[in-house]
Amino acid sequence: MASFFIYSSGIIEPVPTKIVITDRFSSKGRGLSGNCEIAGALPGEEVLMEPCGRRKGFLRQVITPSQERVAPRCCHVPDCGGCALQHFDYQSQLKLKQQIVEREFGSSVKPIIGCTDPWRYRNKMEFSFSQNRSGEKFVGLMLAGSRGRVLNLIQCHLVSEWFSQVLEAVRSWWNGIVDLKAYRHSSDEGHLRNLTLREAKQGQGKMVMLTVSGNPDYALKRQWLDTFIETIKKVSSEPHLSIFLQVQQIGKGRPTQFFEMLLSGPDHITEKLKIDAFGLCHHLDFKISPTSFFQPNTAQAELLYSVGLEALEDLSGARVFDLYCGGATIGLSAAKYAKEVVGIELNHHSVFDAGWNQEVNQIQNFSIHRGDVGEVLERLRKEAGFELPDIVIVDPPRAGLDGRALGHLKDFAAKKILYISCNPKTQAENVKELTLSGYALKLIQPVDQFPHTIHIENICLLER
Ligand SMILES: C[S@@+](CC[C@H](N)C(=O)[O-])C[C@H]1O[C@@H](n2cnc3c(N)ncnc32)[C@H](O)[C@@H]1O
Repeated sequence: MASFFIYSSGIIEPVPTKIVITDRFSSKGRGLSGNCEIAGALPGEEVLMEPCGRRKGFLRQVITPSQERVAPRCCHVPDCGGCALQHFDYQSQLKLKQQIVEREFGSSVKPIIGCTDPWRYRNKMEFSFSQNRSGEKFVGLMLAGSRGRVLNLIQCHLVSEWFSQVLEAVRSWWNGIVDLKAYRHSSDEGHLRNLTLREAKQGQGKMVMLTVSGNPDYALKRQWLDTFIETIKKVSSEPHLSIFLQVQQIGKGRPTQFFEMLLSGPDHITEKLKIDAFGLCHHLDFKISPTSFFQPNTAQAELLYSVGLEALEDLSGARVFDLYCGGATIGLSAAKYAKEVVGIELNHHSVFDAGWNQEVNQIQNFSIHRGDVGEVLERLRKEAGFELPDIVIVDPPRAGLDGRALGHLKDFAAKKILYISCNPKTQAENVKELTLSGYALKLIQPVDQFPHTIHIENICLLER
């Protein structure tokens, strides 16, 4: 069996291929044969692959398919870096995620809570712009296993069809402007960096944010922005359509800065969540500004929060800290059941959103501090009358808790810690440290927020 590579000169050369058997998944959800990673291959499959690089193989053909292989819905499988597991039966994906969490924690894990509908679940997606050496234009998601090469996405089954309609429209807008270039990080040249799309699943509105370079040599012309706005409006019948421009300013020796400018429509979208815990159901409204974090799977976020709060067993009379609180989605949900909740969040848009959320949901027993968790806690602890929390909820970014935040958590010795994370690896490391300082790990509950991808959301409950 041979495959061929046709050079632009017309010369045809055979490409060396190899038959291998994959025996496990890599951490990125690709099939592994020895230490060679093959996107699109499943463990136990005999495949024909073309080696590319020392540790990567390009899948040419599946010779003996796994019984867990299913036909993917998307034409971009396995090239697209967005979905590593779409060709793997959904129940098998859940089993795999359960095993990954069990391996990280080395203890018993509650059965993972899967999605009722594992398709078109995402409320947000970030796409990239790119150009190759010959100037060909690409806008979409990263190619699996590539370093910064972008796939021209024409469909995506993780989001609603509006996302691909916008992508197609933006692509033709871009193709119509010869001078408009994709940003190139290596030389700080070019204009277009990212396109972020958001849509409310249970609330109201759609949002489009175009991220461009802050290099003044590549400032966008007014007429380019005008036609961009027209283009987006043409493909969106949504009356609550927000269009933002974001300028990404990089500078040597200083942190990257972002500036957002509202081009058209409202300055936010809203989302609704139903929180069901302790036999009481609450419907809450949340504002989402362009850079605010919101759980990407709205339906599973309701479960994540409800199951997490319920695990705390009793919140009545409790003083709760919600660290890394975002727009205070979980903190305000907890406030419905607790005595008081104190949130801490770094992102100023999220902090503003939290204030709006508090007002709209008529919650009085919530307050928020803006800043880094470690720094704010340091400051609060020095204030006269500082009261220790009974319960701490943490939901940090993928890197987990830093040393300072972890130090405060140990000192507080709160009765319970609810630790939510999208990275079980760093979560397990932090949990291990907390168990060494007097906590017992009482519950590990994965919730699948990201079907068809290798990402895992997990809840841990620690008790003193
Ligand atoms: C995974 S999100 C969780 C947000 C929220 N709990 C929720 O469920 O929507 C993590 C949040 O931590 C915030 N963050 C990141 N680093 C931080 C830091 N050092 N101090 C405070 N907040 C931080 C981010 O802005 C983001 O809103």
